[in-house]
Amino acid sequence: MNPSENYIPRLATIADIHIETRTEKTFTLRLPDDDPGMDFDPGQFIELSVLGAGEAPFGLASSPAQPHLLQITVRRYPAGIATVPLHRMHVGDYVGVRGPMGNGFPLAENLGRDILLIAGGLGLPTLRAVIFYILDHRDDYGQLTLLYGARTPAPEIDCQQTVDVADESWGGNAGYVSELVDRLQLQPDNTTVFMCGPAVMITPVVTILEELDVSCEQMYINMEAHMKCGVGKCGHCLIRDKYVCLDGPVFRYDKVQQMQDFQHAL
Ligand SMILES: Cc1cc2nc3c(=O)[nH]c(=O)nc-3n(C[C@H](O)[C@H](O)[C@H](O)COP(=O)(O)OP(=O)(O)OC[C@H]3O[C@@H](n4cnc5c(N)ncnc54)[C@H](O)[C@@H]3O)c2cc1C
Ligand code: FES
Repeated sequence: MNPSENYIPRLATIADIHIETRTEKTFTLRLPDDDPGMDFDPGQFIELSVLGAGEAPFGLASSPAQPHLLQITVRRYPAGIATVPLHRMHVGDYVGVRGPMGNGFPLAENLGRDILLIAGGLGLPTLRAVIFYILDHRDDYGQLTLLYGARTPAPEIDCQQTVDVADESWGGNAGYVSELVDRLQLQPDNTTVFMCGPAVMITPVVTILEELDVSCEQMYINMEAHMKCGVGKCGHCLIRDKYVCLDGPVFRYDKVQQMQDFQHAL
């Protein structure tokens, strides 16, 4: 897709709505047959518009192998201009989509390596596209491990989950994701880490990964920033000299370190 075409929303139909939690829904969006579909790299995002209401960025959570069926998981913000009306929509309704926006995780540069995915909260949907991609190219990568701070069963990968606070119904790990990292048997020279989650998770996780000898050049973070245009024109997402919408949202960790304000942007 020519980047300039990202200025124009394309119409998509809501094909399915899956209720995840009281405030989160997964929407499956279908692009028409005569649309070229959306070729995207895992980690990229779309700008979704609710017609007549507003537009907002969401990480693509579906398989890149299905360019006409896009999935996003959306948390409804109180009084959110786009997310509140989106949560009221139904199967068969139309939305606008622009994208794919930004860059993705560097999967082609990490062939043969172990991939460690670390997700917190709403970071998991974006890493879900990475999981789909690696499962579709399983022989090209080593061990695939997912560490996640909530309950989601996932077959075919080494998935370790934890909850912040356990109750009597929970038989798994309790504590923060950083504690799971500490217990891993990592091969630091052969491991690349893709992370997506809030700063409060990423900061301690990075500290432990550094103690385990994973280099900054092998850690990638999908950063969120407040965005409007998504195409490097409005300046809303600017952090120092980087437009998160264009230069990111995926940044190598040593680049993030150079962006002094990164904790406010994650
Ligand atoms: C690259 C990228 C990927 C994203 N992926 C997802 C995703 O997969 N799922 C998802 O639910 N959300 C995701 N977000 C966040 C999502 O874009 C915001 O929740 C959305 O813009 C809110 O839109 P709104 O119009 O409903 O809210 P607004 O009316 O714009 O704002 C409502 C309230 O929410 C606050 N708010 C808005 N955006 C954010 C934010 N990013 N972080 C914290 N507070 C915010 C505002 O300050 C305001 O108080 C992503 C953001 C980016 C930049
Ligand atoms: S969102 Fe407008 S410049 Fe990035």
